[in-house]
Amino acid sequence: MRTAVRFYDALGDEPDALGELLAGLAARPRAIAPKFFYDERGSELFEAICRLPEYYPTRTETAILRQCAPAIAERAPRRAVLVELGSGASEKVRLLLDALRPQAYLGIDISRDFLRAATRRLAHDYPWLAVHAACADFSQPLALRYPPPHVPRLLFFPGSSIGNFTPEEAVALLERLRPLVGPGGGFVVGVDLQKDPRVIRAAYNDARGVTAAFNRNVLYRLRREYGAKVDPERFAHEAVYNEALGRVEMYLVSCGEQEIRLGGRTFVFAPGERLHTEYSYKYTIEGFQALARTAGYRAEAVWTDARGYFSVHYLSLPQ
Ligand code: AVI
Repeated sequence: MRTAVRFYDALGDEPDALGELLAGLAARPRAIAPKFFYDERGSELFEAICRLPEYYPTRTETAILRQCAPAIAERAPRRAVLVELGSGASEKVRLLLDALRPQAYLGIDISRDFLRAATRRLAHDYPWLAVHAACADFSQPLALRYPPPHVPRLLFFPGSSIGNFTPEEAVALLERLRPLVGPGGGFVVGVDLQKDPRVIRAAYNDARGVTAAFNRNVLYRLRREYGAKVDPERFAHEAVYNEALGRVEMYLVSCGEQEIRLGGRTFVFAPGERLHTEYSYKYTIEGFQALARTAGYRAEAVWTDARGYFSVHYLSLPQ
């Protein structure tokens, strides 16, 4: 039985992570990019969010994928390499594997240990599948050693992680990914849809406080990994739905005047001052298809659930 995973480290040692954090803390409004959520603890908390009763995206997308897997397999290039962006626990891809029978799987994620463990489990459970893992930050240009050129590819980007980019950034990301998709390649993207704001607000303000812990974990990470002096419990979780812009805005709000000290610098927070941590854009089907076309893709097919909460898109590039 094959359980070995071919592991590539394309993250290096992130020479500029600290610089990026310092620039964000100094900016007005202050901000930390959402990719910093995903250390091992953050990835675990995100998996816990996915199991919450209020957090509908995971459950809804899973049900859609279960149904449309055969239709995706019909459109996808034969014997493609299946490449998953932000693969996390590599759970959703399991819904596609039997229908697709890809020649190999490549999981790309920023959280190294989490990626290793998840892809090992996958290799164990699918002994017929060649499993590769690349630790990389796909919000930056990717320099991947795998897959080789001229191999057909199917990209898989579930979970509406595309919504964590602004629409302009999302277009730039889709454009940057075109060489990875390749001529004739396919791209399956999960996209959360605009809906009753109460449903969206509840999903980002769960009763058990898991989303709050996920949000605050970014400050614990600053302390653990970057030696910051900060009291994460003196920052409150805030998630508001900006209906006009179709996005959830997530912040950490300072409870009183306080400082964050990091990398020899001191950032003073006024009472109530916000630190922006995430956008989560919600689209209409037409809005997302237009965005994909702007980035040069053909919007071939879309599947959704009966309530119209979530959508799974099949995009492609011409031969
Ligand atoms: C990963 N991403 C799609 C999640 C979202 O819904 O935007 C992250 C998240 N933030 C709060 N809850 C979940």
